[in-house]
Amino acid sequence: MIFPSMLQNKRVVLGVTGGIAAYKAAYLVRLFKQAGADVRVVMTRAAERFVCPLTFEALSENPVYNDMWQDNSQGKIAHIALAKEADVLVVAPATANSIAKFANGMADDPLSTLMLAVTAPKLVAPSMNINMYENPATQANLQILAKRGFCVLAPGIGFLACGDEGKGRMPDPEIILDRTAALITEKDLGGKRVLVTAGPTREYMDPVRFISNPSSGKMGFALARACEHRGACVTLVTGPVEMDDPINMRVIRVTTALEMAAAVNEYAANQDMVFKAAAVSDYRPAAATDQKIKDSRQIETLELAANPDILFELGRKKGNTVLVGFAAETQKLEEHSAQKMQKKNLDMIVGNIVGVSDSGFGADFNTVTCFYPDTPPDRLASQSKDSVAHAVIDRALTIYRKKGYE
Ligand code: C5P
Repeated sequence: MIFPSMLQNKRVVLGVTGGIAAYKAAYLVRLFKQAGADVRVVMTRAAERFVCPLTFEALSENPVYNDMWQDNSQGKIAHIALAKEADVLVVAPATANSIAKFANGMADDPLSTLMLAVTAPKLVAPSMNINMYENPATQANLQILAKRGFCVLAPGIGFLACGDEGKGRMPDPEIILDRTAALITEKDLGGKRVLVTAGPTREYMDPVRFISNPSSGKMGFALARACEHRGACVTLVTGPVEMDDPINMRVIRVTTALEMAAAVNEYAANQDMVFKAAAVSDYRPAAATDQKIKDSRQIETLELAANPDILFELGRKKGNTVLVGFAAETQKLEEHSAQKMQKKNLDMIVGNIVGVSDSGFGADFNTVTCFYPDTPPDRLASQSKDSVAHAVIDRALTIYRKKGYE
Protein backbone atom coordinates (compact mmCIF):
# COMPACT_ATOMS: atom_id res chain seq x y z
CA MET A 1 0.00 0.00 0.00
CA ILE A 2 1.20 3.53 -0.79
CA PHE A 3 0.67 6.48 1.53
CA PRO A 4 1.49 9.43 -0.72
CA SER A 5 2.17 12.70 1.08
CA MET A 6 2.18 11.30 4.63
CA LEU A 7 5.71 12.72 5.02
CA GLN A 8 5.56 15.52 2.44
CA ASN A 9 8.47 17.98 2.79
CA LYS A 10 9.94 16.08 5.73
CA ARG A 11 13.55 15.03 6.06
CA VAL A 12 13.81 11.51 7.45
CA VAL A 13 17.20 10.26 8.57
CA LEU A 14 17.19 6.46 8.60
CA GLY A 15 19.83 4.67 10.65
CA VAL A 16 20.46 1.10 9.54
CA THR A 17 22.34 -1.18 11.92
CA GLY A 18 23.76 -4.65 11.46
CA GLY A 19 20.90 -7.10 11.67
CA ILE A 20 19.56 -9.48 9.06
CA ALA A 21 16.44 -7.30 8.79
CA ALA A 22 18.66 -4.62 7.18
CA TYR A 23 17.37 -5.85 3.82
CA LYS A 24 13.86 -4.72 4.84
CA ALA A 25 15.23 -1.22 5.44
CA ALA A 26 15.68 -0.91 1.66
CA TYR A 27 11.91 -1.26 1.22
CA LEU A 28 11.38 1.18 4.09
CA VAL A 29 13.41 3.79 2.17
CA ARG A 30 11.08 3.31 -0.80
CA LEU A 31 8.02 3.76 1.42
CA PHE A 32 9.48 6.94 2.95
CA LYS A 33 10.23 8.29 -0.53
CA GLN A 34 6.75 7.40 -1.81
CA ALA A 35 5.32 9.21 1.22
CA GLY A 36 7.09 12.36 0.03
CA ALA A 37 10.10 12.41 2.39
CA ASP A 38 13.66 13.41 1.63
CA VAL A 39 15.59 10.41 2.98
CA ARG A 40 19.18 10.31 4.27
CA VAL A 41 20.58 6.93 5.23
CA VAL A 42 23.24 6.39 7.89
CA MET A 43 24.81 2.93 8.14
CA THR A 44 26.97 1.21 10.70
CA ARG A 45 29.89 -0.96 9.56
CA ALA A 46 27.96 -4.07 10.58
CA ALA A 47 24.97 -3.00 8.47
CA GLU A 48 27.25 -2.87 5.43
CA ARG A 49 27.97 -6.58 5.91
CA PHE A 50 24.28 -7.25 5.17
CA VAL A 51 23.37 -4.67 2.51
CA CYS A 52 25.73 -2.57 0.47
CA PRO A 53 25.51 1.23 0.73
CA LEU A 54 24.89 1.54 -3.00
CA THR A 55 21.42 0.03 -2.53
CA PHE A 56 20.47 2.79 -0.08
CA GLU A 57 22.19 5.43 -2.16
CA ALA A 58 20.18 4.46 -5.24
CA LEU A 59 16.87 4.20 -3.36
CA SER A 60 17.28 7.39 -1.34
CA GLU A 61 18.88 9.34 -4.21
CA ASN A 62 21.34 10.71 -1.66
CA PRO A 63 24.82 9.73 -0.52
CA VAL A 64 24.95 7.32 2.40
CA TYR A 65 26.70 8.53 5.56
CA ASN A 66 28.80 5.60 6.75
CA ASP A 67 32.23 6.98 7.57
CA MET A 68 32.86 9.56 10.26
CA TRP A 69 36.22 10.39 8.73
CA GLN A 70 35.09 10.82 5.16
CA ASP A 71 35.11 14.18 3.35
CA ASN A 72 32.69 16.43 5.22
CA SER A 73 30.59 17.74 2.35
CA GLN A 74 30.93 21.44 1.58
CA GLY A 75 33.02 22.13 4.62
CA LYS A 76 30.22 21.05 7.00
CA ILE A 77 30.64 18.54 9.77
CA ALA A 78 28.47 15.76 8.38
CA HIS A 79 26.87 14.41 11.55
CA ILE A 80 26.04 17.89 12.90
CA ALA A 81 24.65 19.09 9.56
CA LEU A 82 22.53 15.93 9.22
CA ALA A 83 21.32 16.27 12.81
CA LYS A 84 20.22 19.89 12.31
CA GLU A 85 18.28 19.11 9.17
CA ALA A 86 16.48 16.00 10.44
CA ASP A 87 12.73 16.17 11.10
CA VAL A 88 12.91 12.68 12.54
CA LEU A 89 15.55 10.00 13.12
CA VAL A 90 14.41 6.42 12.60
CA VAL A 91 16.62 3.43 13.40
CA ALA A 92 15.45 0.27 11.65
CA PRO A 93 16.56 -2.35 12.25
CA ALA A 94 17.94 -1.41 15.67
CA THR A 95 20.26 -4.10 17.03
CA ALA A 96 20.85 -4.79 20.73
CA ASN A 97 24.36 -3.34 20.39
CA SER A 98 23.18 -0.06 18.85
CA ILE A 99 20.37 0.25 21.38
CA ALA A 100 22.93 -0.20 24.17
CA LYS A 101 25.12 2.51 22.63
CA PHE A 102 22.18 4.93 22.35
CA ALA A 103 21.11 4.26 25.93
CA ASN A 104 24.61 4.92 27.20
CA GLY A 105 25.37 7.97 25.09
CA MET A 106 28.29 6.41 23.25
CA ALA A 107 29.55 8.02 20.08
CA ASP A 108 31.96 5.69 18.32
CA ASP A 109 30.34 5.28 14.91
CA PRO A 110 28.44 7.58 12.51
CA LEU A 111 24.98 6.62 13.81
CA SER A 112 25.61 6.74 17.56
CA THR A 113 27.43 10.06 17.11
CA LEU A 114 24.53 11.45 15.09
CA MET A 115 22.09 10.17 17.72
CA LEU A 116 23.64 12.43 20.35
CA ALA A 117 23.41 15.47 18.09
CA VAL A 118 19.78 15.01 16.94
CA THR A 119 17.14 16.99 18.82
CA ALA A 120 14.25 15.95 16.50
CA PRO A 121 11.92 13.06 17.51
CA LYS A 122 13.50 9.61 17.42
CA LEU A 123 12.09 6.16 16.74
CA VAL A 124 13.76 2.77 17.15
CA ALA A 125 12.53 -0.50 15.65
CA PRO A 126 14.28 -3.29 17.61
CA SER A 127 15.13 -6.40 15.66
CA MET A 128 17.05 -9.33 17.13
CA ASN A 129 16.86 -12.87 18.50
CA ILE A 130 14.11 -13.33 21.11
CA ASN A 131 16.54 -14.06 23.97
CA MET A 132 18.63 -11.02 23.12
CA TYR A 133 15.46 -8.92 23.06
CA GLU A 134 14.18 -10.29 26.35
CA ASN A 135 17.56 -10.04 28.05
CA PRO A 136 17.23 -7.64 31.03
CA ALA A 137 20.13 -5.57 29.68
CA THR A 138 18.30 -4.88 26.39
CA GLN A 139 15.00 -4.31 28.18
CA ALA A 140 16.65 -1.82 30.57
CA ASN A 141 18.25 0.00 27.63
CA LEU A 142 14.91 0.21 25.79
CA GLN A 143 13.27 1.56 28.93
CA ILE A 144 15.92 4.26 29.15
CA LEU A 145 15.20 5.27 25.54
CA ALA A 146 11.42 5.27 26.13
CA LYS A 147 11.87 7.44 29.24
CA ARG A 148 13.92 9.88 27.21
CA GLY A 149 11.01 10.27 24.78
CA PHE A 150 12.04 7.87 22.02
CA CYS A 151 9.22 6.07 20.26
CA VAL A 152 10.21 2.43 20.87
CA LEU A 153 8.29 0.04 18.65
CA ALA A 154 7.45 -3.46 19.81
CA PRO A 155 9.13 -6.03 17.60
CA GLY A 156 6.97 -8.25 15.43
CA ILE A 157 6.25 -11.83 16.43
CA GLY A 158 6.97 -14.79 14.16
CA PHE A 159 9.78 -16.65 12.44
CA LEU A 160 13.25 -15.31 13.28
CA ALA A 161 16.29 -15.69 11.02
CA CYS A 162 18.09 -17.68 13.73
CA GLY A 163 15.42 -20.38 13.47
CA ASP A 164 13.64 -19.44 16.70
CA GLU A 165 10.02 -18.34 16.78
CA GLY A 166 8.80 -15.41 18.83
CA LYS A 167 9.28 -11.71 19.48
CA GLY A 168 12.16 -10.09 17.66
CA ARG A 169 11.24 -9.44 14.03
CA MET A 170 11.63 -5.93 12.73
CA PRO A 171 8.14 -4.40 12.64
CA ASP A 172 6.71 -4.22 9.10
CA PRO A 173 8.00 -1.23 7.13
CA GLU A 174 4.38 -0.02 6.71
CA ILE A 175 4.03 0.09 10.51
CA ILE A 176 7.32 1.98 10.86
CA LEU A 177 6.17 4.51 8.24
CA ASP A 178 2.84 4.97 10.01
CA ARG A 179 4.44 5.45 13.45
CA THR A 180 7.03 7.84 11.99
CA ALA A 181 4.26 10.01 10.55
CA ALA A 182 2.36 9.83 13.85
CA LEU A 183 5.48 10.84 15.79
CA ILE A 184 5.98 14.10 13.90
CA THR A 185 2.34 15.13 13.40
CA GLU A 186 1.06 18.00 15.54
CA LYS A 187 -1.44 16.71 18.13
CA ASP A 188 -4.19 19.25 17.49
CA LEU A 189 -6.88 16.59 18.09
CA GLY A 190 -5.33 15.54 21.40
CA GLY A 191 -8.02 14.45 23.86
CA LYS A 192 -10.77 14.48 21.19
CA ARG A 193 -12.99 11.53 20.37
CA VAL A 194 -13.64 10.81 16.72
CA LEU A 195 -15.86 8.25 15.03
CA VAL A 196 -15.16 7.32 11.41
CA THR A 197 -17.09 4.98 9.13
CA ALA A 198 -15.56 3.46 6.02
CA GLY A 199 -16.10 1.02 3.18
CA PRO A 200 -19.18 -0.49 1.60
CA THR A 201 -21.87 -2.61 3.19
CA ARG A 202 -23.07 -5.95 1.85
CA GLU A 203 -26.73 -6.80 1.77
CA TYR A 204 -27.15 -10.53 1.28
CA MET A 205 -30.04 -12.17 -0.59
CA ASP A 206 -28.64 -15.65 0.04
CA PRO A 207 -25.35 -16.87 1.55
CA VAL A 208 -23.38 -16.22 -1.65
CA ARG A 209 -24.98 -13.16 -3.27
CA PHE A 210 -25.22 -9.61 -2.09
CA ILE A 211 -25.92 -6.02 -3.13
CA SER A 212 -22.92 -3.73 -2.62
CA ASN A 213 -20.80 -1.03 -4.27
CA PRO A 214 -17.11 -0.61 -5.19
CA SER A 215 -16.11 1.47 -2.14
CA SER A 216 -12.57 0.45 -1.11
CA GLY A 217 -12.64 2.14 2.30
CA LYS A 218 -9.44 4.06 1.50
CA MET A 219 -10.91 7.52 2.21
CA GLY A 220 -12.35 6.44 5.57
CA PHE A 221 -9.16 4.62 6.59
CA ALA A 222 -7.09 7.69 5.60
CA LEU A 223 -9.35 9.84 7.81
CA ALA A 224 -9.08 7.44 10.74
CA ARG A 225 -5.27 7.27 10.41
CA ALA A 226 -4.94 11.04 10.09
CA CYS A 227 -7.13 11.61 13.18
CA GLU A 228 -5.03 9.13 15.17
CA HIS A 229 -1.81 10.80 14.00
CA ARG A 230 -3.25 14.11 15.22
CA GLY A 231 -3.83 12.65 18.66
CA ALA A 232 -7.53 11.71 18.60
CA CYS A 233 -9.03 8.68 20.27
CA VAL A 234 -10.52 7.01 17.19
CA THR A 235 -13.27 4.46 16.64
CA LEU A 236 -13.40 3.12 13.10
CA VAL A 237 -16.49 1.22 11.96
CA THR A 238 -15.79 -0.39 8.62
CA GLY A 239 -17.60 -2.55 6.12
CA PRO A 240 -15.77 -5.35 4.29
CA VAL A 241 -12.49 -3.97 2.88
CA GLU A 242 -9.11 -5.40 1.91
CA MET A 243 -7.04 -3.39 4.41
CA ASP A 244 -5.50 -4.33 7.77
CA ASP A 245 -6.68 -2.54 10.90
CA PRO A 246 -5.01 0.87 11.28
CA ILE A 247 -2.80 1.12 14.37
CA ASN A 248 -3.79 2.37 17.82
CA MET A 249 -7.55 2.70 17.46
CA ARG A 250 -10.73 0.73 18.11
CA VAL A 251 -11.75 -1.02 14.87
CA ILE A 252 -15.18 -2.60 14.44
CA ARG A 253 -15.69 -4.71 11.35
CA VAL A 254 -19.25 -5.06 10.13
CA THR A 255 -20.88 -6.45 7.01
CA THR A 256 -24.40 -5.06 6.60
CA ALA A 257 -25.96 -1.60 6.96
CA LEU A 258 -27.96 -2.84 9.95
CA GLU A 259 -24.73 -3.97 11.65
CA MET A 260 -23.10 -0.64 10.82
CA ALA A 261 -26.09 1.22 12.28
CA ALA A 262 -25.86 -0.82 15.49
CA ALA A 263 -22.10 -0.20 15.85
CA VAL A 264 -22.41 3.52 15.12
CA ASN A 265 -25.25 3.89 17.60
CA GLU A 266 -23.22 2.10 20.25
CA TYR A 267 -20.23 4.44 19.91
CA ALA A 268 -21.73 7.74 18.64
CA ALA A 269 -22.36 9.28 22.07
CA ASN A 270 -19.88 11.95 23.24
CA GLN A 271 -17.91 12.09 20.00
CA ASP A 272 -16.32 15.42 19.12
CA MET A 273 -16.39 14.65 15.42
CA VAL A 274 -18.04 12.05 13.21
CA PHE A 275 -16.80 11.42 9.66
CA LYS A 276 -19.26 9.25 7.80
CA ALA A 277 -17.25 8.11 4.78
CA ALA A 278 -18.94 4.71 4.45
CA ALA A 279 -20.90 3.99 1.28
CA VAL A 280 -23.91 2.51 3.02
CA SER A 281 -26.39 0.51 0.97
CA ASP A 282 -29.74 2.30 1.11
CA TYR A 283 -31.65 -0.95 0.55
CA ARG A 284 -31.34 -4.63 1.41
CA PRO A 285 -33.17 -7.64 0.01
CA ALA A 286 -36.44 -7.82 1.96
CA ALA A 287 -35.80 -11.47 2.76
CA ALA A 288 -32.54 -13.42 2.76
CA THR A 289 -32.59 -17.19 2.44
CA ASP A 290 -30.39 -19.53 4.51
CA GLN A 291 -29.53 -21.65 1.50
CA LYS A 292 -28.26 -20.64 -1.91
CA ILE A 293 -31.13 -19.77 -4.24
CA LYS A 294 -31.08 -22.25 -7.11
CA ASP A 295 -31.26 -20.98 -10.64
CA SER A 296 -34.77 -21.78 -11.76
CA ARG A 297 -35.13 -18.70 -13.96
CA GLN A 298 -38.30 -18.00 -11.99
CA ILE A 299 -37.31 -14.93 -10.00
CA GLU A 300 -38.23 -11.78 -11.85
CA THR A 301 -38.12 -9.16 -9.18
CA LEU A 302 -36.11 -8.71 -6.02
CA GLU A 303 -38.07 -7.15 -3.21
CA LEU A 304 -36.11 -4.57 -1.22
CA ALA A 305 -36.46 -3.09 2.23
CA ALA A 306 -35.04 0.33 3.16
CA ASN A 307 -32.01 0.41 5.46
CA PRO A 308 -31.88 3.00 8.24
CA ASP A 309 -30.19 6.25 7.25
CA ILE A 310 -27.48 6.20 9.91
CA LEU A 311 -26.29 9.74 9.36
CA PHE A 312 -29.82 11.14 9.32
CA GLU A 313 -30.40 9.60 12.76
CA LEU A 314 -27.13 11.08 14.07
CA GLY A 315 -28.11 14.49 12.66
CA ARG A 316 -31.46 14.39 14.48
CA LYS A 317 -29.88 14.09 17.89
CA LYS A 318 -26.65 15.96 17.24
CA GLY A 319 -25.19 17.56 20.36
CA ASN A 320 -21.77 19.17 20.43
CA THR A 321 -20.51 16.98 17.62
CA VAL A 322 -19.20 18.15 14.27
CA LEU A 323 -20.99 15.90 11.79
CA VAL A 324 -19.36 15.37 8.41
CA GLY A 325 -21.00 13.41 5.59
CA PHE A 326 -19.72 12.28 2.22
CA ALA A 327 -21.51 12.35 -1.10
CA ALA A 328 -20.34 10.40 -4.14
CA GLU A 329 -22.30 11.65 -7.13
CA THR A 330 -22.32 11.12 -10.86
CA GLN A 331 -23.82 14.58 -11.62
CA LYS A 332 -25.06 17.83 -10.03
CA LEU A 333 -22.56 17.54 -7.19
CA GLU A 334 -23.41 20.87 -5.60
CA GLU A 335 -27.18 20.44 -5.73
CA HIS A 336 -27.20 16.86 -4.42
CA SER A 337 -24.61 17.53 -1.74
CA ALA A 338 -26.51 20.59 -0.49
CA GLN A 339 -29.73 18.59 -0.29
CA LYS A 340 -28.08 15.83 1.72
CA MET A 341 -26.37 18.27 4.03
CA GLN A 342 -29.64 19.98 4.83
CA LYS A 343 -31.70 16.80 5.14
CA LYS A 344 -29.16 15.15 7.45
CA ASN A 345 -28.37 18.31 9.49
CA LEU A 346 -24.64 18.18 8.74
CA ASP A 347 -21.89 20.72 9.47
CA MET A 348 -20.07 19.81 6.28
CA ILE A 349 -20.41 17.42 3.38
CA VAL A 350 -17.49 16.28 1.28
CA GLY A 351 -18.61 15.70 -2.29
CA ASN A 352 -16.85 14.05 -5.17
CA ILE A 353 -17.80 12.96 -8.66
CA VAL A 354 -17.37 9.23 -9.21
CA GLY A 355 -16.56 7.58 -12.51
CA VAL A 356 -13.62 9.84 -13.35
CA SER A 357 -10.12 8.38 -13.43
CA ASP A 358 -7.92 8.56 -10.33
CA SER A 359 -10.63 9.88 -8.07
CA GLY A 360 -13.37 8.35 -5.95
CA PHE A 361 -13.91 4.59 -5.55
CA GLY A 362 -10.71 2.57 -5.13
CA ALA A 363 -8.28 5.33 -6.18
CA ASP A 364 -5.40 6.58 -4.01
CA PHE A 365 -6.25 10.15 -5.01
CA ASN A 366 -9.42 12.18 -4.72
CA THR A 367 -10.80 15.47 -5.97
CA VAL A 368 -13.38 16.78 -3.53
CA THR A 369 -15.40 19.88 -2.75
CA CYS A 370 -16.40 20.71 0.83
CA PHE A 371 -19.86 22.20 1.22
CA TYR A 372 -21.09 24.05 4.32
CA PRO A 373 -24.58 25.17 5.41
CA ASP A 374 -23.86 28.90 5.36
CA THR A 375 -20.49 29.59 3.74
CA PRO A 376 -19.41 29.12 0.12
CA PRO A 377 -18.02 25.74 -0.93
CA ASP A 378 -14.36 24.97 -0.88
CA ARG A 379 -12.97 23.14 -3.91
CA LEU A 380 -9.79 21.21 -3.08
CA ALA A 381 -7.12 20.39 -5.64
CA SER A 382 -6.74 16.75 -6.64
CA GLN A 383 -4.51 15.11 -4.03
CA SER A 384 -3.84 11.86 -2.21
CA LYS A 385 -6.59 10.58 0.07
CA ASP A 386 -4.18 11.05 2.99
CA SER A 387 -3.86 14.74 2.30
CA VAL A 388 -7.60 15.08 1.53
CA ALA A 389 -8.13 13.55 4.98
CA HIS A 390 -5.96 16.18 6.67
CA ALA A 391 -7.64 18.99 4.72
CA VAL A 392 -11.10 17.71 5.73
CA ILE A 393 -10.02 17.40 9.38
CA ASP A 394 -8.58 20.96 9.29
CA ARG A 395 -12.00 22.22 8.20
CA ALA A 396 -13.89 20.14 10.74
CA LEU A 397 -11.60 21.48 13.48
CA THR A 398 -12.25 25.07 12.37
CA ILE A 399 -16.01 24.42 12.62
CA TYR A 400 -15.52 22.77 16.02
CA ARG A 401 -13.68 25.82 17.35
CA LYS A 402 -16.08 28.34 15.73
CA LYS A 403 -19.02 26.61 17.41
CA GLY A 404 -17.25 26.92 20.74
CA TYR A 405 -17.26 23.16 21.39
CA GLU A 406 -13.64 23.38 22.63
O1 C5P B 1 -25.89 7.34 0.27
P1 C5P B 1 -25.79 8.83 0.38
O2 C5P B 1 -25.21 9.48 -0.84
O3 C5P B 1 -27.09 9.46 0.84
O4 C5P B 1 -24.73 9.09 1.55
C1 C5P B 1 -24.51 10.38 2.08
C2 C5P B 1 -23.99 10.26 3.48
O5 C5P B 1 -24.93 9.57 4.30
C3 C5P B 1 -22.67 9.49 3.61
O6 C5P B 1 -21.90 10.17 4.58
C4 C5P B 1 -23.12 8.11 4.09
O7 C5P B 1 -22.13 7.50 4.90
C5 C5P B 1 -24.37 8.42 4.89
N1 C5P B 1 -25.38 7.36 4.86
C6 C5P B 1 -25.76 6.74 6.02
N2 C5P B 1 -26.72 5.76 6.02
C7 C5P B 1 -27.32 5.39 4.88
C8 C5P B 1 -26.94 6.00 3.67
C9 C5P B 1 -25.97 6.98 3.69
O8 C5P B 1 -25.21 7.07 7.08
N3 C5P B 1 -28.24 4.44 4.90
